Amino acid sequence: MGAGASTGISEAVTAASAADMAAAVAALPDAEKAKIIAALTAGKRKNVIGGNWKCNPASMADVKSLCAAFKEAKFDTSKVDVVICACNVHAVAAKEALGDCGIEVGIQNISKTGMGAFTGEVPVAMAVDMGFKWCLIGHSERRSLYGETTDDTVEKLKVAQAGGMSIMFCIGESLAEREGGKTDEVNKSQLDAALPLVTDWDKFVIAYEPVWAIGTGKVATPEQAQETQRNIRKFVEEKCGADKAAKVRIQYGGSASPDNVENLSANPDIDGFLVGGASLKPTFVKMIEHLGK
Ligand code: PGA
Repeated sequence: MGAGASTGISEAVTAASAADMAAAVAALPDAEKAKIIAALTAGKRKNVIGGNWKCNPASMADVKSLCAAFKEAKFDTSKVDVVICACNVHAVAAKEALGDCGIEVGIQNISKTGMGAFTGEVPVAMAVDMGFKWCLIGHSERRSLYGETTDDTVEKLKVAQAGGMSIMFCIGESLAEREGGKTDEVNKSQLDAALPLVTDWDKFVIAYEPVWAIGTGKVATPEQAQETQRNIRKFVEEKCGADKAAKVRIQYGGSASPDNVENLSANPDIDGFLVGGASLKPTFVKMIEHLGK
């Protein structure tokens, strides 16, 4: 093995047999191994798109017609996970209406507490028992309107993953924080305690949602989203290692729509979307199909 790092990589990739190559890669310094893992996995993560319906739509008839439209989506389930997070009172009906079309239904706000005297909460065990496999944790509306703290999100993460749920873990900065140059600092502070607790990186998705872009029609530019998500991935690497960083899926959220899905998803660190307003229209199908072809 050559002394210089780049010599090491070129020896690894030109090694005669697969076994020689594996041995050569294993002997590389960690930083060089990380580069190889990143190169091999770039663009290979499965996309994931969530529709966050919030407290919408207005009626059961609307739920049924949206689900009927989504059922027509043509997508490869090996290329994209599709999850609709319906309002709790609609969730069972949405699940029934979607049937076996490959679209899952998730819970918007999973509880950190269990069964028992916890008025208004949705505990993990009940959600799982009813067939809901996905949940959101830490959406900015939970944080800003209902006082959810970073500690709460960590508790929710622990119980949701102990119950086997897949998680879209939402983070993101406010406009003042972005303008103050604090974007990365905020994202790191919202992830710092959670990342070391992750037990299954296939079931832990980070939803980067700049608060200033949510519901405002002001979408982050592809450059802003890519740069920020690259920095989030670097932070996962610092905290948990290169293999986890290469594996973790990072969604963009904030006025994502069929109009911007292509430009945003073309970036290497954008692995899908968490979509509010645009998931309440039949044209959400276009976003699903773009990611799942
Ligand atoms: P938006 O919402 O797509 O309407 O901006 C995104 C979200 O809140 O998850």
